[in-house]
Amino acid sequence: MVKSMSVMQVELGDRSYPIYVESGNLKQADLLARHIKSKQVIVVTNETIAPLYLKQVVDGLQGFCIEQLVLPDGEQYKTLELVNTIFDALLSKKFSRNATLIALGGGVIGDISGFAAACYQRGIPFIQIPTTLLAQVDSSVGGKTGVNHALGKNMIGAFYQPQSVVIDVDVLDTLDDRQLTAGIAEVIKYGLIRDLALFEWLEHNMEKLLARDKEALTYIIERSCQNKAEIVATDEKEAGIRAILNLGHTFGHAIETGMGYGVYLHGEAVAIGTCQAADLSRRLGWLSDADVKRIEAIFKRALLPILPPESLAAQQFIDLMTVDKKNVDGDIRLILLKKIGEASLPMAVERALLLETLNEYGHGK
Ligand code: NAD
Ligand code: GLY
Repeated sequence: MVKSMSVMQVELGDRSYPIYVESGNLKQADLLARHIKSKQVIVVTNETIAPLYLKQVVDGLQGFCIEQLVLPDGEQYKTLELVNTIFDALLSKKFSRNATLIALGGGVIGDISGFAAACYQRGIPFIQIPTTLLAQVDSSVGGKTGVNHALGKNMIGAFYQPQSVVIDVDVLDTLDDRQLTAGIAEVIKYGLIRDLALFEWLEHNMEKLLARDKEALTYIIERSCQNKAEIVATDEKEAGIRAILNLGHTFGHAIETGMGYGVYLHGEAVAIGTCQAADLSRRLGWLSDADVKRIEAIFKRALLPILPPESLAAQQFIDLMTVDKKNVDGDIRLILLKKIGEASLPMAVERALLLETLNEYGHGK
């Protein structure tokens, strides 16, 4: 049976947009062209992805006036300085307000380029072509764009939705195993926060994913995008329910910032942070010991780390967690698990309980 391409929709009124998912989508030139309303197009990518996929994308865009911008690769480059490099390219080539920016890359390229698109002349259209599993299941959808600050992860940014998201499952062929599993962390997240059936599917099919079975990968990408599209359509600017997508992220961002950007991959830090959040949920009486073990087991099967770095002391965690977008009046607010498949909204917990998790979780394991 020839499977037809899957198209999902992020429903946001006049800013609604499609997510196309299929093997070979990068070869379908029309998928990009149909969302470009300008002659001027800039493709922003990085030095790792450029030799792999840039030509394919540019060759498919016949008849446009195309600039290519290749940035350095790495989370440590997710900075305002690199956003400025994009502005330099746009201004030096006299790009006008209707020009289209195409972000070709993982979450770092998507976040930086999306933010540049949001700011340039107060906003130009942009298209996401996510090339990591993490970007395909999470960061390319939903319009969160931005950069890191030395004092906090993703602290500078804007909500700015793309015109479309074009996902080609085949580009995952060149992704290394560590990056693949980092993406699986965000898929486990959807299962834990709202999709028990997906969590159970992962328990039955993890080895297929690790073996890069295309059907299994396509399934988790579609299911994740569906989950994300539903949440974003309900709460685009994170006034409420969207915050559950941050399960494990407050701990995780502290690990990323505290250890130095790029030392732990985002998905790895989220895996550890989710186990810390599960431990705290157990201390609140919401999860059982068995639930926590079940959560740890799925991350371990995905070959992800679950224990926080020993060099990051509890007080350092607290200091870093105090810089988080969910906080209100300086109070640390966390997403926790009421049960597997259901997350809480952001909530402050007693500092003593949080310290118990920070001091005890992972110690002696
Ligand atoms: P990344 O963008 O750094 O990509 C990981 C590595 O894989 C890089 O070295 C990249 O060059 C390489 N790569 C990308 N595609 C490849 C391919 N097809 N083949 C070979 N190599 C390839 O990391 P990421 O995990 O994609 O994204 C992490 C970032 O996303 C973090 O900055 C995180 O904060 C952000 N994020 C944003 C959102 C959001 O909603 N905007 C959600 C989750 C994460
Ligand atoms: N990755 C979290 C969000 O998009 O809200």
